[in-house]
Amino acid sequence: MRVFSGIQPSGDLHIGNYLGAVKQWAATQSTDSLYCVVDLHALTLQIDPATLRTQTDDLLAALIAAGLDPSRCTLFVQSHVSYHAQLSWLLECVATYGELTRMTQFKEKAERQEGYRVGLLTYPVLMAADILLYQTDQVPVGDDQRQHLELARDLAERFNNRYGAIFTVPVGVQPPAAARVMDLQEPTRKMSKSVSSPLGTIYVLDPPEAIERKVKKAVTDTDGEMRFDWDHKPGLANLLEIYAGFSGERPDAVAARFSRYGDLKRELAELIITELAPIAERYRELRASGPELRGIANDGAEKARHLAGATYQRAAAAMGLS
Ligand code: TYM
Repeated sequence: MRVFSGIQPSGDLHIGNYLGAVKQWAATQSTDSLYCVVDLHALTLQIDPATLRTQTDDLLAALIAAGLDPSRCTLFVQSHVSYHAQLSWLLECVATYGELTRMTQFKEKAERQEGYRVGLLTYPVLMAADILLYQTDQVPVGDDQRQHLELARDLAERFNNRYGAIFTVPVGVQPPAAARVMDLQEPTRKMSKSVSSPLGTIYVLDPPEAIERKVKKAVTDTDGEMRFDWDHKPGLANLLEIYAGFSGERPDAVAARFSRYGDLKRELAELIITELAPIAERYRELRASGPELRGIANDGAEKARHLAGATYQRAAAAMGLS
């Protein structure tokens, strides 16, 4: 079963990315899985070129440190495989302007800036190209990518109906808990790489003291009742989801084991630190070995190029390109 997923090098990896995506990737990876650092996607917002380059390497190292094993899965950088941009164009001529302007993430991001880039609008088409190039069956992602994934499915079906059966129609896979981790200070807002409050986001490479402080200061509520209830107790529900994401339990089962918020927070901080500290250590070792990282990315791109090329050629021929 072919698995593909991607992540933007637009900032440091946080526990939303980890629990929503990367932890599942590491747990289910096989020789048929591809994971991609999507640097082309990062160009949709303002980013300094040197920063983009560094963050791409940082993210490669962080993904390996978090458990991706390049001797099993294929790990590569999107811009190293030119078929992504090429198939994206073909799919832009299948997608409609209307369906792209309806994307929630586009509306939210476009609202926040004047003169936003066209890439911000066409971004989900590039994402569809990423997925469809590899004849992907499953796409493990967090909840915020659901709508983009639906578009990828629509485009695959429309293309297949119009030009012949070229693409596998993919399905999205969400983790059982923590598919949408919220900001610890504003639990009604998603934890994110780009917009976040300093105390609201726990980074995978945060030192233990920072993790302890952030969990301790996380916003809850004043009634003190231990219950898993997103509608009325979002701060607490978020902590219970995060706990469940790390421990593999269910959030309501976690709630049943605790009676005081303080105890929950103390154990949660410990749980997070125990899982993340070895990742931070591996990261530092890997990051110090620059050439090795480049080698891994080059090998990954070569494998990816081979698979992507075959699909691209078929799609292009089906549309009448000679
Ligand atoms: P990105 O880089 O924003 O996030 C990477 C992965 O992390 C998940 N995620 C979260 N999960 C739970 N809670 C959160 N607060 C949280 N924040 C992020 C995301 O759902 C994602 O799985 N468009 C994608 C990258 C992409 C992609 C693809 C993904 C490009 N091409 C093809 C899958 C397949 C994005 O911006 O993810």
